[in-house]
Amino acid sequence: MLRDATPKTIRLAEYTPPTFTIERVALTFDLDVERTEVEAELLISRVPGTQGPLVLNGDADAEGSGQLLSLTIDGVVPAQTAWSLGGEALTLHAPPDRFTLTTRRRLSPSKNKAFEGLYASGSGLFTQCEAEGFRRITWFLDRPDVMSIYTVTLRADPARFPVLLSNGNPVSQTDEVHEGKPRRVAVWHDPHKKPCYLFAVVAADLKARHDTFTTQSGQHVDLNVWVRPQDLDQTAHCMDSLKKSMRWDETRFGREYDLKVFNLVAVSDFNMGAMENKGLNIFNTKFVLARPDTATDVDFAGIEGVVGHEYFHNWSGNRVTCRDWFQLSLKEGFTVFRDQEFSADVGSRAVKRIEEVRRLRSLQFPEDGGPTAHPVRPDSYVEISNFYTVTIYEKGAEVVRMGLTLLGPEVFRKGTDLYFARHDGQAVTTDDFVACLAEVSGRDFSQFKRWYTQAGTPTVSSSSEWDAAKGTLTLTLSQKVPATPGQPEKLPMLVPVTTALLGPSGARLPLVVDGVQRGDEVVLELTQATQRFVFSGLTQRPVPSILRGFSAPVLLETDDDEAALLFRLAHDDDAFNRVEAGQELFLRHLLASVAQVQVNEAPLAPSKALLDATQTALSSALTPTADPALLALALSVPGLDVLGDRLPWADYSSAFLAREHLIAALAQALTPLLEQVDAHLSKSLDGKPYRFAPDDVGRRSLRNLLVAWRARLDDGEAVVLEHLGRAGSMTDTQAALALLCSSTSPARDQALSTFYATWKAEALMMDKWFALQATSTRPQALDDVMALVKHEAFTLENPNRARSLVAALAMSNPLRFHEASGRGYVFLADQVRAIDAFNPQIAARFLTPLTRWKRQDPPRQAVMKRELQRILDREGCSKDVYELVTKSLA
Ligand code: PHE
Ligand code: ZN
Repeated sequence: MLRDATPKTIRLAEYTPPTFTIERVALTFDLDVERTEVEAELLISRVPGTQGPLVLNGDADAEGSGQLLSLTIDGVVPAQTAWSLGGEALTLHAPPDRFTLTTRRRLSPSKNKAFEGLYASGSGLFTQCEAEGFRRITWFLDRPDVMSIYTVTLRADPARFPVLLSNGNPVSQTDEVHEGKPRRVAVWHDPHKKPCYLFAVVAADLKARHDTFTTQSGQHVDLNVWVRPQDLDQTAHCMDSLKKSMRWDETRFGREYDLKVFNLVAVSDFNMGAMENKGLNIFNTKFVLARPDTATDVDFAGIEGVVGHEYFHNWSGNRVTCRDWFQLSLKEGFTVFRDQEFSADVGSRAVKRIEEVRRLRSLQFPEDGGPTAHPVRPDSYVEISNFYTVTIYEKGAEVVRMGLTLLGPEVFRKGTDLYFARHDGQAVTTDDFVACLAEVSGRDFSQFKRWYTQAGTPTVSSSSEWDAAKGTLTLTLSQKVPATPGQPEKLPMLVPVTTALLGPSGARLPLVVDGVQRGDEVVLELTQATQRFVFSGLTQRPVPSILRGFSAPVLLETDDDEAALLFRLAHDDDAFNRVEAGQELFLRHLLASVAQVQVNEAPLAPSKALLDATQTALSSALTPTADPALLALALSVPGLDVLGDRLPWADYSSAFLAREHLIAALAQALTPLLEQVDAHLSKSLDGKPYRFAPDDVGRRSLRNLLVAWRARLDDGEAVVLEHLGRAGSMTDTQAALALLCSSTSPARDQALSTFYATWKAEALMMDKWFALQATSTRPQALDDVMALVKHEAFTLENPNRARSLVAALAMSNPLRFHEASGRGYVFLADQVRAIDAFNPQIAARFLTPLTRWKRQDPPRQAVMKRELQRILDREGCSKDVYELVTKSLA
């Protein structure tokens, strides 16, 4: 490998507090796309009792490190020997105890394709500083435990940059003439101390949807959602989500907004979903823009969730921030938990929970079982950008949720109140958070904290023993935490297992656990490797319903037989477990069927019991109390990713055959019922205006599921085309197109070109167009993708576009990506090498599927490892990519 030095590993154990603080920051930007000048005036003081030089972070931008224009200390140019400048640091060897450092620096935003620091997107200028982007703007103590008060002055040509925004409240805006040129000058002041990762600037030609909000204590807030003028008609849902979030945080967490304005800006070049910069959230357009004809239900839900997430960061992240980046889950896990609860409260709680768990299982469990597994609070990293993971976010949220489960809502709320009150304005740790939960509950959380320090998904096994003579059911729970890289031995976790016992009619029975009355639902606390819980006072053998609501992020293995699963599918009053029972029935059938396919036998037909259960569930859609959304989830046949994870190696082609066969068999056996349910749902949908409301979303999802089943019938194409014809929103259009895309019929090409002609000018629509083709299961899908990278509308530089094609293939089309030839792997490696040259963060994310090579058969493993090595061997390989590749090859 051609690199100067092995990138350095940063360790939590080596954390030391800063030796200088930066009290005040005054930044002045002379903004231009090609050439921007930044003056930074920093009021710096030494932390009493400390020694040594001041080392400020400062990364070279795309133009190299030669952009320091001037430097003064208290207004005076210091001697050459007083300071030194390297590629990553500016060092003042013996600075005064309290002084003002002023630097001026030149930046080239248009050359910045990493989208970190200051960059150009379209005709505008935007910043992204989390985690370590601020050092690409100016020299600074770029660490979250240095918090300062900022005043920002922006100067720009008003014709090109009429809108000038920064954090906090606006102070003034004037138009001047400067050296013969018109200049707009805007000044912003943020009264709240913040770490530099929350700094932001926007200079662009945008228009705002404006609204207002009055907080619970009567403060008036101006709300703006800033987009390109032509996108204004796609901002209503975003604004609505923002207002809902603000109200919800007041009622559910007692958190109020704290500035006079809240600005939310959409940008089309963005590495992630969105960013919670204080008072100036910057969003990927994907999580802002929506109209019924452009966005699906999933898109609408995504916007609601992400707007909530960023808004909630104002307290969980901004007012109380992280001491260091090992604490990332302090803000991310907690804020994901908060946005999940928000979506559950404004939508359907059960549906939301099931979707969360699907996401956790399909993305986080594989991460936790692979070469990049890490604890919710990692011990070390090479590149922090690699740690914005599903483990930090989603598993972190599960850990917070377990806190709620153990404490109950009232005590948990006392804990969060204490946390916000005690640590307002501070940079703290996950231990500080847990300490608040411990204090308000009087409980010992030391074992619980292993959720933060031990990686790996625990397996919990349960078995039950019935003693008819005594009337007792003994539930034996045991746990095993697997070894993960760097953590060979594990200690038992505290696993909250929410449990009920179901009687013959499905009703919950009163519980006496180990002799103590416990209501009709109990949180069993599994703290040892194996533990027994004795339920007494029973007259008949009950059916246990355990891990209700998915009360812990574990893999559960039960001794449920088919009869128990069928019973729970029909009767369990915990919606999560009811749906889970149906999924387990499907899975068991599919795994048996895959085994057949693997020995060249025909896939299995569904059993009579499976058919009957499906029919019963489906028929209930016709009743007045039906919940179509839950039915759609219960009846969705597990995907290839889920199946692959349950096989010794991820044999997606056998899984695909088994799955297709099952769906076709169900569709064939139940055709009249499918048509009946379709007609029933259509009465409430067709001819009505689109609403993003839980009942309609549920109806659409069930109807689309049934259309997908019928698409597997002989007249399937006609069914899909008819559905496309009646589609009243992008939800239905996209569902129909996805089905057509997996076919080879001429109607497919026709539909794709119509879509292209209609939506050519809309970037997010073109992303859909590429993604539809990248996720097709048709045999030539890989060739399609290889051809599409040359399409005139394709570019690797825009992260959304690259994701829509390259990542969509590698992460959402396992069947075609893992083609036996290995061509998919070579293709991905080529793209990653190309992207790494300008955007390391995106390159590192995209290569993840290759790191999971152990889940493939030996011939595929060989190609995947070879391609990982080829990615590593690229001259100039980034440390982002270096870290992931070396960990996965270790
Ligand atoms: N902090 C952002 C979020 O979760 C994510 C993000 C990280 C965005 C790094 C950009 C860069 O809300
Ligand atoms: Zn976040």
